Amino acid sequence: AVERTLSIVKPDATRRNLTGKINARFEEAGLRIVAQKRVWLSKQQAEQFYDVHRERPFFGELVSFMISGPVVVQVLEGENAVARNREIMGATNPANAAAGTIRKDFAESIEANSVHGSDSLDNAKIEIAYFFAGTEIVG
Ligand code: CMP
Repeated sequence: AVERTLSIVKPDATRRNLTGKINARFEEAGLRIVAQKRVWLSKQQAEQFYDVHRERPFFGELVSFMISGPVVVQVLEGENAVARNREIMGATNPANAAAGTIRKDFAESIEANSVHGSDSLDNAKIEIAYFFAGTEIVG
């Protein structure tokens, strides 16, 4: 089925001017960028977005990293977009990411791993609504 998923180009990637190269990976794989904006998250926004990780030991560092520079938040649309995007990104830890994935090719570390993607269709709906009004998504 055609799905939508939330993607974030993280501060390590915007800092190295990799947004275009990352977007090309999505488009070449058949995902369409149907909404996109560059934002500098506040601490409160980053904490709320990653609320499910609040009790994890890396939570504080994750929030600091995510507010260390601008991010590009985007909605990707396509057949099985949630799973497809996770394939294109590769494993969370770049050391475990498959060849040819964004994280294998661009990520600096498990934390500075260049991109975020929703992990389920239910979470995609929540995460998209967190950043975008319906009128900002143009399919
Ligand atoms: P993301 O897919 O955005 O989801 C949570 C983020 O926490 C993850 O990518 C990483 O950027 C970050 N993170 C840092 N340390 C870890 C860890 N040990 N395990 C999982 N995620 C981590």
